[in-house]
Amino acid sequence: MKNISIAIDGPASSGKSTVAKILASDFHFIYVDTGAMYRAVTFLSIKHNIAFSDESALANLTKRYPITFKPAGQGQLVFADGEEITQAIRQPDVTAAVSEVSAHGNVRKELVKAQRQLAETGGIVMDGRDIGTTVLPQAEVKIFLVASVEERAQRRYKENQEKGIEMDFEAIKEAIAKRDYLDSHREVSPLVQAADAVLVDTTGMSIEQVVTKIKEIITAKGF
Ligand code: DC
Repeated sequence: MKNISIAIDGPASSGKSTVAKILASDFHFIYVDTGAMYRAVTFLSIKHNIAFSDESALANLTKRYPITFKPAGQGQLVFADGEEITQAIRQPDVTAAVSEVSAHGNVRKELVKAQRQLAETGGIVMDGRDIGTTVLPQAEVKIFLVASVEERAQRRYKENQEKGIEMDFEAIKEAIAKRDYLDSHREVSPLVQAADAVLVDTTGMSIEQVVTKIKEIITAKGF
């Protein structure tokens, strides 16, 4: 596989990170989870007692504490401010606040810079909300993954149970719908399908079927 960039965007729990990790591993590409970066800033803001509304203090946090990844198995470990925060950034307190933190233009500016640096070499699968539109508009392949709120809530519920995170199904569904709304209605880089992205609706599809479908799209584009 040529060293192309693959951008995978879509709403919360649409399966982006799961399929992005598999594609990166199959193609021997780097995988970058940009949601983890916004989650890391949110985690740091809780740790350092910074209000989610304080844009300049949050942007300073992202400058002061670089977020780093270390590959581990099929996934990766996340580090910032001298500690491993892979699990901590998935906890409900971070999830509940991340849309507010990620809506700030100056926070996004810093993280987008870091994301572009990570992608400089090519051979990358990057997932998020604005990869195809803003971070890597030149990406050779752009996928927009969607699924019904009901199905995404079911997937997240199962995932939480496996990780030992207690959260009731209706509460998860509500939280996902709220994040969809906030992520799609913010002023800076809202979640929107790039004009040249291919829409894949994963409702009712298995992970394997989604991976196969995306590989077919990549092949059809001549890569
Ligand atoms: O993919 P995720 O659920 O881990 O992302 C967490 C939040 O980060 C999501 O609600 C919106 C934000 N985000 C973003 O604004 N831009 C990105 N490229 C990735 C995530």
